[in-house]
Amino acid sequence: MYDAGKILIGLIIFLAFATFPFYSNMGKAVAKPDPKIDTPVIQQLEVKKCVESKEFMRAEHMQLLNEWRDAALRRGERVYKGSDGRTFQISFQNQCLRCHSNKKKFCDECHSYAAVKPYCWDCHFAPKEAKR
Ligand code: HEC
Ligand code: HEC
Ligand code: HEC
Repeated sequence: MYDAGKILIGLIIFLAFATFPFYSNMGKAVAKPDPKIDTPVIQQLEVKKCVESKEFMRAEHMQLLNEWRDAALRRGERVYKGSDGRTFQISFQNQCLRCHSNKKKFCDECHSYAAVKPYCWDCHFAPKEAKR
């Protein structure tokens, strides 16, 4: 009748095939993200800093963007005071994307790696990159 051993072997072979694409992707295929900050606007900056520290931005930019949106749209606040006292106009387009005008080499670079797809670009214009 049923042969537990054969079923087990079948199962193992099945699992090996089912997970093969996953293992074979490990360590190659997806290169580590290397976001570039060499945009024209950032090159002009005297101090090459974001609105907050790099560590903060790396970990918290999603929340910061939500805060900016709520501040601007719900509370009508258009000025952000950074933790070091600098102030910035709250604008996704005119701040974040003015400096980070290289969506593909910056935002997308990390997001493809992390497999997240922010839907912001449905409405907000992606910066024009291919200028000639
Ligand atoms: C005045 C120009 C400027 C503005 C405005 C700006 N950034 Fe930045 N951003 C930078 C620079 C320069 C760095 C690199 C900082 C460093 O290396 O210390 C950076 C770093 C970052 C990082 C970390 C990148 C990494 O390699 O870890 C993220 C994420 C980021 N910015 C997102 C944003 C977002 C989102 C906004 C809008 C809320 C924004 N930035 C606004 C200039 C800017
Ligand atoms: C240093 C790498 C890095 C850079 C550069 C970066 N992001 Fe992200 N971003 C991430 C990671 C990782 C996540 C997912 C975080 C999570 O799920 O907790 C994320 C998530 C987000 C989210 C939330 C999406 C969601 O579905 O939850 C938004 C919005 C976002 N990023 C906007 C931006 C924008 C705009 C830029 C370019 C100006 C940018 N990010 C640049 C790494 C980065
Ligand atoms: C359905 C369309 C839509 C989507 C999707 C969308 N936005 Fe917006 N967003 C708007 C509109 C409209 C405004 C109002 C612009 C204004 O009044 O200046 C706005 C304003 C903002 C503001 C505040 C002020 C400003 O002018 O920048 C931020 C920050 C912002 N959006 C970030 C985001 C981020 C980050 C995402 C992705 C997670 C996103 N938005 C997705 C439509 C959208």
